[in-house]
Amino acid sequence: MAGINENYLKLAGSYLFRETAHRTAAYKEAHPEADVISLGIGDVTQPLPPVCIEAMHKAVDEMAQADTFRGYGPEQGYDFLINAIIESNYKEYGIQPDEVFVSDGAKSDCGNIQEIFSTDNTIAITDPVYPVYLDTNVMAGRTGLLQSDGRYAGVTYLPCTAENGFVPALPEKRVDLIYLCCPNNPTGTTLTREQLKVWVDYARENDSIILFDAAYNAYISEADVPHTIFEIEGAKEVAIEFRSFSKTAGFTGTRCGYIVLPKTVMGKTVSGEKKALNPLWNRRHTTKFNGTAYIIQRGAAAIFTPEGQKQVKATIDYYMENARLIREGLTAAGITCFGGINAPYIWLKTPDNMPSWDFFDKLLKEVNIVGTPGAGFGPCGEGYFRLTAFGSREKTIEAVGRIKDQLKF
Ligand code: MLT
Repeated sequence: MAGINENYLKLAGSYLFRETAHRTAAYKEAHPEADVISLGIGDVTQPLPPVCIEAMHKAVDEMAQADTFRGYGPEQGYDFLINAIIESNYKEYGIQPDEVFVSDGAKSDCGNIQEIFSTDNTIAITDPVYPVYLDTNVMAGRTGLLQSDGRYAGVTYLPCTAENGFVPALPEKRVDLIYLCCPNNPTGTTLTREQLKVWVDYARENDSIILFDAAYNAYISEADVPHTIFEIEGAKEVAIEFRSFSKTAGFTGTRCGYIVLPKTVMGKTVSGEKKALNPLWNRRHTTKFNGTAYIIQRGAAAIFTPEGQKQVKATIDYYMENARLIREGLTAAGITCFGGINAPYIWLKTPDNMPSWDFFDKLLKEVNIVGTPGAGFGPCGEGYFRLTAFGSREKTIEAVGRIKDQLKF
């Protein structure tokens, strides 16, 4: 009999969004008449921008002709997309085409990146956190067992709560890998350029690597929030950035994202020799991935045209108006809310410090609204709850109305 990777046995229950989906499905089955509104998983509801649809149609037609048909593409992505990414987002930071790797989304990239690091590395995650960073490190054996306080042994947790303004403090003990997400999922809060610089400086001083998830960068509205970590001096020596087309342009179903991994980011061998991480990731990517579909990459590239930028902005404005309606509506109902200014997530304090999963059940049963319990993102998320602004306007207004008028506090 084959042995198993026992690290998987350390994992807590099921993946967070499977658990919320499971509970919601059970409720719907028992109450088929209920009009359940989902503001839970951060899945978009608005269609792809017309420029993407047009580009994809054209690409489909190319696939129908022998002289324009494409088989395997470059694993790292087609030049037309990589060049458009650099031109729009990274030109001023000197990022080169072979430092960008197109993928099927930031979730895979955030989960896979740890493979190029030693399993002996220590990791730091914020608490609460997007569960993929932590779970993939548990799977890889970079943690001990889950303890009674909800934390894995051997992991450095960086609490982010209302008390510290959701700004993580530097760890007391040196760590190798630091996961940061800004704008943040789940709290919807941000780090300013100055606050992020503290981390870049730390990473440079301590030979640490920052894994920077910028999947929500398109939602930034405030001037002091960095759009990329490479805005910070020295970040090209210590940071890997993750970007996604999912939330930017509605690609949650079509799948496309990318990593920016400058050739100047180094790790070391057991004997202490410095090695660039870029060739390692390139080796992993080309071995395990055959490239994002040509049709999807054509769609993704279309968002960088002037018309594409206009269309993307219109959809983001739409979601951010939802965010405003949720934030202001709930605040008027006496609920303390965070986020929702530079991110499509509203992070709220549960009334009377109700445990997050109890609030999940209450919201589902009393007003038929699905959200995500803060505790599912880490122990410091207990007593918090996340709502997304990705619903339709109509459903968002309906949901806010139900919470204000029908939820019994
Ligand atoms: C979320 O709800 O946190 C996101 O949809 C998860 C993801 O992007 O994988």
